[in-house]
Amino acid sequence: MNTREKLLTLLKKAEGTWVSGDDLARKVALTRSAVWKHVCRLREQGCAIESSPRKGYLLTQRPDRLVADEIREALETRNFGKREVVCLERTESTNTSARSLALRGAPEGTLVVAETQTQGRGRKGRSWYSPMRDGVYVSIVLRPRLLLNQAGRIPILASLALAETFIGLGISDVSIKWPNDVLLRGRKVAGILTEVGAEMDSVDYMIIGVGINVNTPKFPRSLQGSATSLFMESGSRFFRSMILAQYLTRLEKDYSLYRKGVTGSVLARWKDLAGVMGRRVSVEAAGRNSQGVVEDLDEDGALIVRSRGGGRVRVCSGDIRFLDVHDRGRSGKGGG
Ligand code: BTN
Repeated sequence: MNTREKLLTLLKKAEGTWVSGDDLARKVALTRSAVWKHVCRLREQGCAIESSPRKGYLLTQRPDRLVADEIREALETRNFGKREVVCLERTESTNTSARSLALRGAPEGTLVVAETQTQGRGRKGRSWYSPMRDGVYVSIVLRPRLLLNQAGRIPILASLALAETFIGLGISDVSIKWPNDVLLRGRKVAGILTEVGAEMDSVDYMIIGVGINVNTPKFPRSLQGSATSLFMESGSRFFRSMILAQYLTRLEKDYSLYRKGVTGSVLARWKDLAGVMGRRVSVEAAGRNSQGVVEDLDEDGALIVRSRGGGRVRVCSGDIRFLDVHDRGRSGKGGG
């Protein structure tokens, strides 16, 4: 932690009460005038800090920045985010950065977070809209002991943890659209891009890339019908480090259950939140189109679709489109 971060931590710990300049100077081993200079820099970075010659300093507002200390402080995890947390102002794609780290042996739970992405990636070669400081763009390195054909289990956990985080924030009308889009009132608020590194037929590492539209005030025209943000739906702005920490805490809990083979509760909760059970869908997968009614989700994350002819099709990847009366004409393709 550098001096400025230490000062900010001390002011935050005071929780809305004044801290004398003498106290701060002693704790960071600087003169009072050096403390004053750092306070001026913190103000330039977006902190609202009141000062009084008699009382000292009072932090009244802190900036919404994704910095390692803020994230770590808010985390209630054992492993995720406890070791390596790489916070970048700007990167091409956090998934790309995380993959380089994973290839160099980064441990499970390593995080890469960015304030913006210049080439944020979505599923199926789409891009992910990543405006500066409006969203959470994070990639998590996992090393699950899974066979390659079981890798679909992890995005199920990742989307469930997202949906439950939003519900926990008091947001209503949250649903999951298979495979792993999270929607608010039918519009996409978050998406997951999973990338796997394999050795023979088993998983070596997985990168779980998560994009959450948090405080985005408005989307480009091409996304306006399909994307939304927590801010647009609730009218409130959220601290992104708090959302990220809550998300990782939930994800880690379910991930450790899954590692112990306890899958039932996760699948039941996922199905409960998924807007797809019992719906008539058209599935585009591996260049083939099939239609039917969604019957189930299996423990490897595949959708079980009963076709018109009565046969059951197991769909492991692809996109679905709703064909029944509830269809609001949104594909969930956009969102970022
Ligand atoms: C999708 O819904 O198509 C998946 C979107 C995933 C976006 C996130 S943002 C962080 C990570 N880095 C990327 O380039 N993509 C994922």
